[in-house]
Amino acid sequence: MKTVRVNASAPYDVVIGRGILDRADDLIPSDGAKKAAVISDDTVFPLYGERVVSSLEKKGLDVVSFTFPHGERSKNGKTFLDILEFFASRSLSRSDIAIALGGGVVGDIAGFTAATYLRGIRYAQIPTTLLSAVDSSVGGKCAIDLETGKNLAGAFHQPSAVVCDPDTLGTLPPEVFSEGCAEALKYGIITSPELFSHINEKGIDFDREYVISECVSIKADIVRRDEFDLGERALLNLGHTFGHGVERASGFGISHGAAVAIGISTVARGAEKLGISEKGTSDAIASALEKLSLPVACPPGLDVEAAFEAMTHDKKRRGETTTVVIPEKIGKCKLVPMNKEELTGLMKAGL
Ligand SMILES: NC(=O)c1ccc[n+]([C@@H]2O[C@H](COP(=O)([O-])OP(=O)(O)OC[C@H]3O[C@@H](n4cnc5c(N)ncnc54)[C@H](O)[C@@H]3O)[C@@H](O)[C@H]2O)c1
Ligand SMILES: [Zn+2]
Repeated sequence: MKTVRVNASAPYDVVIGRGILDRADDLIPSDGAKKAAVISDDTVFPLYGERVVSSLEKKGLDVVSFTFPHGERSKNGKTFLDILEFFASRSLSRSDIAIALGGGVVGDIAGFTAATYLRGIRYAQIPTTLLSAVDSSVGGKCAIDLETGKNLAGAFHQPSAVVCDPDTLGTLPPEVFSEGCAEALKYGIITSPELFSHINEKGIDFDREYVISECVSIKADIVRRDEFDLGERALLNLGHTFGHGVERASGFGISHGAAVAIGISTVARGAEKLGISEKGTSDAIASALEKLSLPVACPPGLDVEAAFEAMTHDKKRRGETTTVVIPEKIGKCKLVPMNKEELTGLMKAGL
């Protein structure tokens, strides 16, 4: 079992260990709470809900649960309001606690309801996808999607605990597991050659406890220095600028993780061609991604111009420039503000 402390404005522990799902009672601080509301989706709750509920009941908590249909399409205003109404109808008070059990969709929407219900109640994250374990469950960003775009309404609300049981990843469909691998490798490229080498050597058989705790430690460090995403936290967007464009141009037929893999490979190739990064970096990245069954280039048939168009409308744009994450070498990335022409030029060089 490994514990990573996140020293955000409200500090908390991320505990990672096999089988700890049954220990939610002692790993989630709930002093003063009488009720716990478990929020989950209709795939995850039947798999793991009962274990979490009975663990919390051991502590004497009155446990209620709310389940919604799985998938990104549920991360909307309607589900958000349904959960708030559920909290209110079960008379959750300010001292009670919400528990997000699931992937990033559950974590984001449960976090946002916890941030807003009664102007903020405590919540804990129990991530069950690799992506949510290494990324979305830590750092306190939570959001829902609007018709106009993803994650457009949200808040910063740190969880009071994160309980990650890598055994839950065993039931993930292989492609969903691979998507999380793209995000895990991202941390290696940003700051850690050791983490990169481990994943590169082992492929999908990497040591899950080690990789998750390394990724969480890296994210915790970045969040400690830039909790509100005003600077360095943008490093976590490696591959996401073009990746979001690819996701959108494919009508979301290309999943987030696969699009990020394409985005990382494309920016790495572009940066190397333009002489910004060390020779060999883009080949090393592409080869590691391929071992994880991830794509490293836009598939034939994708409307690349539409991807560029969507990319330059990305919400992360500030004024006329977009901050792009450029891998200089494995373990070192830099943030470069670019105008529309520079950004498109860089990505075109990497296609
Ligand atoms: N808040 C942040 O900092 C942050 C960071 C990155 C991504 N995100 C968000 O995370 C979301 C994506 O998260 P995701 O990839 O975890 O998607 P997800 O939550 O939709 O999970 C993917 C699928 O896997 C299923 N699933 C989850 N755990 C399972 C398990 N153990 N066994 C079998 N099936 C399981 C789910 O039901 C779902 O169908 C996006 O909405 C994204 O915006 C947020
Ligand atoms: Zn991502």
